[in-house]
Amino acid sequence: MAHETPEDRPSGMRAGATAPAKCILLGEHAVVYGMPCLSVALDMRTAVAAERSTSATTVNGHPLESRYHSYLMQVLDRVWKDPSALRLTTRSGIPSSSGMGSSAALSVAAAATLYDLQAGASDAEVAQAAFESERATQGGGSPNDTSVATAGGAILLAPERRTDAGLEHLWSVTLDDRAWEVHRARLPKLALVIGVTGVRSDTGEQVAKVRRFVERSRFGEETMEAVGTLVWEGLDALRTEDLATFGNIMGRCQTALHTMGVNHPSLQRLIDAAHTVPGTYGAKLTGAGGGGSVVVLTLDPEGVAEAIGRAGGIPYVLEPSTEGVRHTAGEEATEAEVQR
Ligand code: MEV
Repeated sequence: MAHETPEDRPSGMRAGATAPAKCILLGEHAVVYGMPCLSVALDMRTAVAAERSTSATTVNGHPLESRYHSYLMQVLDRVWKDPSALRLTTRSGIPSSSGMGSSAALSVAAAATLYDLQAGASDAEVAQAAFESERATQGGGSPNDTSVATAGGAILLAPERRTDAGLEHLWSVTLDDRAWEVHRARLPKLALVIGVTGVRSDTGEQVAKVRRFVERSRFGEETMEAVGTLVWEGLDALRTEDLATFGNIMGRCQTALHTMGVNHPSLQRLIDAAHTVPGTYGAKLTGAGGGGSVVVLTLDPEGVAEAIGRAGGIPYVLEPSTEGVRHTAGEEATEAEVQR
């Protein structure tokens, strides 16, 4: 690596962690305004590894720079309390700026890795640090994505602790005087198709756009409240395996997201393509919108994947992943496979 000499090579302990992608089923954007949000982790992961270094901190052999490593810098600021420099490696299997939570997975895997190099931390502490780091980088937002990447499986975020609807409370994430309660949701097995538009989307920009919509009139707040009601109805529909009702609710959330201003022609093309396939229950954008990805619930994942491909998207047929953050010795992010 161009920026390192053999003397820079560290000795000693190496730590690492991986964290999964996520897909928001219902409730993106409204979750920023205290509404519930239902998400699942996906079977794609980002890996981080770290060891102490005797020279300046590097990422994949390059100097740490805010232009390239803004998320890692925020995590380091919060979690790394040791004076030593670090040699960090990262490897992402999650498409970036695609609504699939690549920055959340990176923040979670990095926080877990850095805690493991020190005294260790609970999942709740990892989720809190990753949220604060992501929020500082994006300039707003909720702990939804970092909570899903930490906990894995299906997660429902709500403003209050719930024990109904089959929910199990995991932890709270706080910011100033606000709290988000993170719950494990039990969902039936789902076959999801994610369609990536290839149009890169900046979460911070989309969150800021929706903030202007909410602040403009009471209608903005009402739209968020309507999405909140749909999330609870959707959770009930999924628990009773009423996929037709759930698909209809996905469509109603998509209409609300369009009203908020975060739909995009590239997303609409993939949603329309999915609806041409018999057996499709519902389709909507997932994540921040403005580009990024759609999620489709269907009886025919292969048919929908083909239709999305024909419409210009990149399809992934994925099952939700039950595994959240995974602590490793760093073997998943080795120099041979790093990306900047
Ligand atoms: C982005 O994946 C989800 C948003 O609701 C933002 C957030 O919750 O931080 C749009």
